[in-house]
Amino acid sequence: PAPLYLDCDTGVDDSLALAYLLASPEIDLVGVGSVSGNVGARQGAVNTLDLLALAGRGDVPVAVGAHDPLAGEYGGGVPHVHGANGVGDVVLPPSGRAPAEESAVELLLRLSHEHAGRLRVVAVGPLTNLALALRADPTLPERVRDLTVMGGAALHPGNVSPVAEANIACDPEAAAEVLAADWDVTLVPLDVTMADLLEETDRKALLEAGTALAPWLGDVLDLYFDFHVATFGRRCSALHDPLAAAIAVGGVRPTVAPRVPVVVDDTRGPGRGQTLCDLRGLYAGHPDVPGARTRVVLATGSPLAPHLLERLLR
Ligand code: BDR
Ligand code: CA
Repeated sequence: PAPLYLDCDTGVDDSLALAYLLASPEIDLVGVGSVSGNVGARQGAVNTLDLLALAGRGDVPVAVGAHDPLAGEYGGGVPHVHGANGVGDVVLPPSGRAPAEESAVELLLRLSHEHAGRLRVVAVGPLTNLALALRADPTLPERVRDLTVMGGAALHPGNVSPVAEANIACDPEAAAEVLAADWDVTLVPLDVTMADLLEETDRKALLEAGTALAPWLGDVLDLYFDFHVATFGRRCSALHDPLAAAIAVGGVRPTVAPRVPVVVDDTRGPGRGQTLCDLRGLYAGHPDVPGARTRVVLATGSPLAPHLLERLLR
């Protein structure tokens, strides 16, 4: 299995992505870093430790990452979406384990040396830790096999402004630096993550599962399902972070994913946080732009939910 580092702001859908990765034989989760987003970085790390303990994976190192974005200060979480504690206000059994002594940036850099050329990176929160790691060591991308990012919106509206998606909007400066660096990036934007939903019947299956972790995930999803009523007209949820994880692992395959230049708007105007993807080639039937490094996923070949459940329920 390929060594994989996960950077996240755990988070309801982050929890699903973590659980999915733990259930994926294609990869070996060798470390998790936290970053402020859905909750503060320290609470995110505590949530990750608790979930790992439930999954019987107390061996995976968890490091606390950046609390504040590169410019400015952390604006606080989104209690009406992810709960005040990030996991839908469910009190998970405490792991009793402390985060690693090293920071998330130190963990990522260390793993990139230990698994040079093989390490896969999945980022499903704001990109602050990755930007700080790049600043500390600009050669990092040479040692990373590929990077999959949940973030942005290509042709889809934003979810925190008319044009900006939350992970990018939390730290546009970091996203701009990460997407400008020389690694093999797959961007999984709202265009696909808003089209792959988990339904109440799926949540019920999680609640009734015979594993230690899955029923807790069903519980954690309850508040997140409420939040999505305003968007979809029924209790359900988007599957942002697990979709990025599944694409990284190969469990879901992109069918339309041109390699195009992506520029992040980090100005202070109304476009702040927008991911400007040059998709003009789609008109001509030649969507790839020569030399572009970022693959922007615009469509996938199969729905995520059945595949996700198959892995989470076993
Ligand atoms: C992204 O923002 C967070 O709220 C989710 O965990 C996901 O990573 C979706 O915009
Ligand atoms: Ca997230």
